[in-house]
Amino acid sequence: MESLVAGARETVTISAGNGIELRPMSIGHAEELYALIDRNRTRLRQWLPWVTNCFSIEDLVDFIGGRERDNAERLSLTTVIFANGQLCGSIGLHAIEKLHRRTSIGYWIAGEHEGRGIVTQACRAIVTAGFRDYGLHRIVIQCATGNQRSSAVARRLGFTEEGILKEAEWLFDHWVDLRVFSMLEQHWK
Ligand SMILES: CC(C)(COP(=O)(O)OP(=O)(O)OC[C@H]1O[C@@H](n2cnc3c(N)ncnc32)[C@H](O)[C@@H]1OP(=O)(O)O)[C@@H](O)C(=O)NCCC(=O)NCCS
Repeated sequence: MESLVAGARETVTISAGNGIELRPMSIGHAEELYALIDRNRTRLRQWLPWVTNCFSIEDLVDFIGGRERDNAERLSLTTVIFANGQLCGSIGLHAIEKLHRRTSIGYWIAGEHEGRGIVTQACRAIVTAGFRDYGLHRIVIQCATGNQRSSAVARRLGFTEEGILKEAEWLFDHWVDLRVFSMLEQHWK
């Protein structure tokens, strides 16, 4: 096993097949990414607590700076999803816990690209990278119980449903329960 050594390998673009690429998020993506978030703000706000009404380009630039640092130290793998050269969303391995070799995945995609299997395919590729290149043992997906589309991605990839965390996320004006799905390295094909 390689991995989990700071700076062991440069973060590289992951090819997920069918013209889908996961490119490490960088400051060069800021403008286009912000425009996409802004166009999808109402839709994304339904499930993503960070998409506040006042989420600004400055907030995004700050976020990207942090992700660039963490990606370089292999403490995260935050990427931008491109489909046939077009930026359409984001997917990432959040804070990688090196001691326990575990992390969680977050993702979103613009409305016009939804329902085409892009996130399922991107997720398959990033899970493979997590186990193969980052030496992870356990990867989870946590989503609000009402978020059927997100649960469907986890189920489609064979994640195991472990249970529900009661009122574990504050979504602007109400609590939501989170469904926890997991994948262990020995079960990933
Ligand atoms: C959750 C979210 C990322 C899922 O995106 P999605 O487009 O529905 O997921 P996929 O890209 O994998 O597409 C799956 C759909 O594509 C279809 N599809 C087409 N080709 C496919 C393929 N080759 N492989 C898998 N699915 C395929 C599936 O049948 C499925 O359609 P269905 O939902 O009507 O059954 C998206 O709805 C989203 O961005 N939501 C808002 C943000 C959010 O909720 N993020 C997650 C927070 S936990």
